[in-house]
Amino acid sequence: MCSAWCTRKRVCDNVSHVEEPDPKALDQLFNRVLRTEDTVLTATRESADAAGMPAIEVSAQHGKLLYLLATVARATRVLEIGTLAGYSTIWLARALPPDGRLVSLEFDPKHADVARANIARAGLSAVVDVRVGRAIDLLPALDGGEPFDLVFIDADKPSTTEYFEWALKLTRPGGVIVVDNVVRNGEVVDPSGRDEAVEGMRRFLARLASEPRASGTVIQTVGAKGYDGFALIVL
Ligand SMILES: C[S@@+](CC[C@H](N)C(=O)[O-])C[C@H]1O[C@@H](n2cnc3c(N)ncnc32)[C@H](O)[C@@H]1O
Repeated sequence: MCSAWCTRKRVCDNVSHVEEPDPKALDQLFNRVLRTEDTVLTATRESADAAGMPAIEVSAQHGKLLYLLATVARATRVLEIGTLAGYSTIWLARALPPDGRLVSLEFDPKHADVARANIARAGLSAVVDVRVGRAIDLLPALDGGEPFDLVFIDADKPSTTEYFEWALKLTRPGGVIVVDNVVRNGEVVDPSGRDEAVEGMRRFLARLASEPRASGTVIQTVGAKGYDGFALIVL
């Protein structure tokens, strides 16, 4: 007999099976019960879909985690690498004071246009600066400015180590760096894997391990976005 929470209850009552929680259904439950996403965030996700952009934004629970991390860090300056439609951007920018600043770097001008419209709808245009170009070309312009309190790295995965180097340079001591998609469905454990993104993450982990200023952990995640994980680093 199924437990009350079993998401396969309708099809499996009276059938013997090993109960497996469904991470997507659980994410939906958390989103619903906690009312995690408001209409602005839902519209942001939907705008990406309508524009034919991939659904590769962070999940609602992950977005809320970014908001909470920026809040506990008392962040006033945030750098994001990889904007897409501005979903994580809006979560992070909402944690900032009115005079805060979030710089988000995006390669694709179409993504940047959609993001800017979403950021405007969220009432955050005065706080968020979306810059268009290859992040590796845009990052040097941020050198020498006020340091960032939090950096979120979520762009082309093979370049993660290069972005981490920049984050080390641009983040204040005690600041936070979050690197998304480190686990890559578990493939990062297989040293023979030749996927560029997986290799990029393995290279990043080795660099993190060798950095004396950084204290980091990798958290595996399941949920609406499948099986992955992120690195959380404090300098
Ligand atoms: C995973 S999506 C970002 C998702 C977003 N952080 C969110 O959670 O809502 C990655 C984004 O990085 C952008 N990107 C890819 N390569 C890039 C590069 N070299 N420089 C800057 N952005 C890049 C892609 O166009 C895409 O919009």
